[in-house]
Amino acid sequence: MSARLPVAVIGANGRLGRFACELLRVSDEFTLVAAFGRADDWRAALPKSGASVVFEATRAGLGARHATIVLELGLRPLVATSGVTAEENAALDRLAKERSLGGLVVPNFSLGSVLLQRFAADAAKHFPVAEILETHHPRKADAPSGTALETARRIALARGVDASSRAAAAVPARGEVVGGTTIHSLRLPSAYAHQEVVLSSGGETLTLRHDMQGPDAFAPGILAALRHVARCTGVGRGLECALTT
Ligand SMILES: NC(=O)c1ccc[n+]([C@@H]2O[C@H](COP(=O)([O-])OP(=O)(O)OC[C@H]3O[C@@H](n4cnc5c(N)ncnc54)[C@H](OP(=O)(O)O)[C@@H]3O)[C@@H](O)[C@H]2O)c1
Repeated sequence: MSARLPVAVIGANGRLGRFACELLRVSDEFTLVAAFGRADDWRAALPKSGASVVFEATRAGLGARHATIVLELGLRPLVATSGVTAEENAALDRLAKERSLGGLVVPNFSLGSVLLQRFAADAAKHFPVAEILETHHPRKADAPSGTALETARRIALARGVDASSRAAAAVPARGEVVGGTTIHSLRLPSAYAHQEVVLSSGGETLTLRHDMQGPDAFAPGILAALRHVARCTGVGRGLECALTT
């Protein structure tokens, strides 16, 4: 049997970090060699940990900074943290290639969510109107969700229209318009993570829906992304990179 790939986790006390640690502990393909919380000096400890891949799940906005440090230490980052911009992603890609290393930024590890985005973009070429309804638990800090923004962006790209435009609808109750697609956000104590894309043409409506009941949905995506990061060069974006290799 081949050796298990050594992985470290930064943000190990958070919800996603704890889930990743448990997944690694029961894996026969990967091994958890270090788990760092905010109070730990992970920059000093990582080189001695034996890790080759570092799973990063901390606070939105810190992902690119942490991934840069990981690459500078000669290791491979898998960034789960929200908020890595396209420009930051491109800078990480350049740095990794300079050092013959690889990494990946994955805004959403759910396979179903990634497939919903793919199907919605395909359908949007044929349906002129699309609206998104995203529902999450009330602890979620951002609205609309990053996944809904990315879905709207992919719909705009499929239609060949400006994907970067973002404005409140003329009437507040109509939500936010992103790249021509209106997004509505619900925050409900009974919800986990749900997204519906409703596409409409003259006489028909197509509804695509994805429901996540808990973090178990992230497991196949996290494992696929770790496998990809272990052998890729450069830092791509999105789970799809890991599904095509
Ligand atoms: N890609 C995906 O599929 C996916 C899925 C779920 C969540 N996320 C994203 O992943 C991130 C974490 O989510 P979560 O739900 O696990 O959040 P969380 O429960 O709030 O956990 C975040 C953890 O990061 C730690 N932290 C904060 N700043 C840090 C630093 N400078 N160095 C090291 N650790 C630090 C926090 O420590 P303290 O407790 O001491 O503050 C906390 O334990 C968020 O950006 C979230 O949006 C992504």
